[in-house]
Amino acid sequence: MTTIAVLGAGKIGEALLSGLLDGGRPAGDLLFTEKHAKRSAELTGRYGVEGVSVGEAAKRADVLVVAVKPQDIEPLLDQLVGDLAPGTLVVSLCAGLPTALFERRLPAGTPVVRVMPNTPMLVGEAMSAISAGRHAGEEHLDLVEELLGTVGKVVRVPESQQDAVTALSGSGPAYFFYLVEAMIDAGILLGIPRELAGSLIIQSAVGAATMLAEGGQHPVILREAVTSPAGTTIMAIRELEKHGVRAALLAAIEAARDRSVELGNAHEKG
Ligand SMILES: NC(=O)c1ccc[n+]([C@@H]2O[C@H](COP(=O)([O-])OP(=O)(O)OC[C@H]3O[C@@H](n4cnc5c(N)ncnc54)[C@H](OP(=O)(O)O)[C@@H]3O)[C@@H](O)[C@H]2O)c1
Repeated sequence: MTTIAVLGAGKIGEALLSGLLDGGRPAGDLLFTEKHAKRSAELTGRYGVEGVSVGEAAKRADVLVVAVKPQDIEPLLDQLVGDLAPGTLVVSLCAGLPTALFERRLPAGTPVVRVMPNTPMLVGEAMSAISAGRHAGEEHLDLVEELLGTVGKVVRVPESQQDAVTALSGSGPAYFFYLVEAMIDAGILLGIPRELAGSLIIQSAVGAATMLAEGGQHPVILREAVTSPAGTTIMAIRELEKHGVRAALLAAIEAARDRSVELGNAHEKG
């Protein structure tokens, strides 16, 4: 039996608790910490999971999942450090925080696994990339893969790739939301009512995503299948190319990667 404590049951922390319960973890194996008593009582009422102090979680849990905002990490580590049992696995969901930061502050030898999740965790469709710190082994990665597998897909990456992962899948959902928003605007331009334009585009996005995820075909093949000679789609593609949409995506994702590096460096210095 492994006791798992989620430290900071906000949006991502709650989504994980809910996913773990749906995945068959008994509520008695789970704990959470939350600053506000009202929210803590609400979560216990909703999930039957016990809310405890950070110190108590550190003493009782085998796995601590850190889901506070990166800027709240220092006070949390202060609360943790005195009570952490040796060998407790620390799993950080905090964007941009290197495993070395935890290793410096926590008792020597503490295994740390860094995760970059994304918001579709809220609907059980997260893409999470995990990386082992210096003291985390295969058994720790296996366990984290199993835990996060209840709320989506999981891949293993070297920690050096986490900034690129942040730019691709961490921020990725926002790029799709942005595209959908722009396509709905195009519907308005063509005289389609907003609600109808939303339905047309969102279902097209769901359908396209399902074909990509389940069909196993490369996106180029799928796109070519709807691009008939002298047809409507190729006229649209020509405009996308003319306006440099592909180049814009390359530059945008590179800029997001650079910002992630910059934020990580700020934590290293802080
Ligand atoms: N949301 C995303 O898109 C996303 C994507 C990838 C990764 N992440 C990472 O996931 C983490 C959580 O993000 P989120 O969006 O779920 O944030 P959130 O909704 O603000 O949740 C964080 C929760 O932790 C609580 N908290 C802070 N310090 C605490 C402490 N010492 N003890 C107990 N509880 C504490 C906060 O309470 P207060 O509100 O009262 O401070 C809040 O309820 C972040 O590190 C973020 O980088 C988020």
